[in-house]
Amino acid sequence: MLSYQHIYHAGCLPDIHKHMALAELLNLMVKKDKPLTYFETHAGRGYYDLNAPEARKTGEAAEGILRMMKDGWFSPTRPFLRVIQDTQSKKGMHIYPGSAAIAEYCRRPGDKMHLMELHPGEIKHLRSAFKNRSVNIQQKEGLAALLAIAPPQPRRGLIFIDPSYEIKTEYEELPVKIEKVLHKWPVAVLCLWYPLLPEQPHKGMLRALTALNLPKSGVFEVEFSPPPARENGWKALYGSGLFIANIPFGFEQKMSGITNTLTGIKKQT
Ligand SMILES: C[S@@+](CC[C@H](N)C(=O)[O-])C[C@H]1O[C@@H](n2cnc3c(N)ncnc32)[C@H](O)[C@@H]1O
Repeated sequence: MLSYQHIYHAGCLPDIHKHMALAELLNLMVKKDKPLTYFETHAGRGYYDLNAPEARKTGEAAEGILRMMKDGWFSPTRPFLRVIQDTQSKKGMHIYPGSAAIAEYCRRPGDKMHLMELHPGEIKHLRSAFKNRSVNIQQKEGLAALLAIAPPQPRRGLIFIDPSYEIKTEYEELPVKIEKVLHKWPVAVLCLWYPLLPEQPHKGMLRALTALNLPKSGVFEVEFSPPPARENGWKALYGSGLFIANIPFGFEQKMSGITNTLTGIKKQT
């Protein structure tokens, strides 16, 4: 039974890292005059209400996105900040755009969007957020659904994988599944997020991913502060990582400013 709900963490420091990267990737990809497919395996609910009790309870948005906006960490011309501005003006200042909302903002008419989400509560929110939109939303296991559809039409595309890592075997299984997916859909840009935790479960996963020798692949990590000595689990999260394959031209340059800025940020909670 899945218990993770991203509303508790929406707008946290790792969200800023992954969502800025996602917006930069899509912004680069839509510059080419060819349609694309966006496929997300772990979509969440699309939009997050930062006034909700769950979001207030952890204070992670206050430590992340609210601080970022107040202190102006990034130029308002960055694609992610344009999504935030658009979301706030249309839905309210307290609404935070998650990955699906970012993709919806960036895509053009003709670009296809597939969103997978298993949690019964989250998918309800997701369906309601995207009603009347031409989006394929399914309550399915994300990687299995991806493997079944690969390669979709259009073949140009972005796969975004943002697991909750509730099941420890995910770290071992992801490289195996990613290899299969990219075997069927080799031109896809693939972006996988992972947490940096003191036990470093991501290290073995990265070794396995590196061994696949995927084309134009790289790792983008940011450490917010040293791991707290006495805390366990997600509370001890000290950084955010992205493994990306088929990195679009120009992305590394866009990302370096983001990494530099976030690396200097100290965790508060
Ligand atoms: C980290 S959250 C996603 C956040 C979202 N990507 C965002 O940025 O707004 C992970 C989500 O994956 C869902 N989930 C967990 N295991 C899944 C699976 N095997 N297939 C599809 N969804 C899954 C959880 O219910 C949760 O909503």
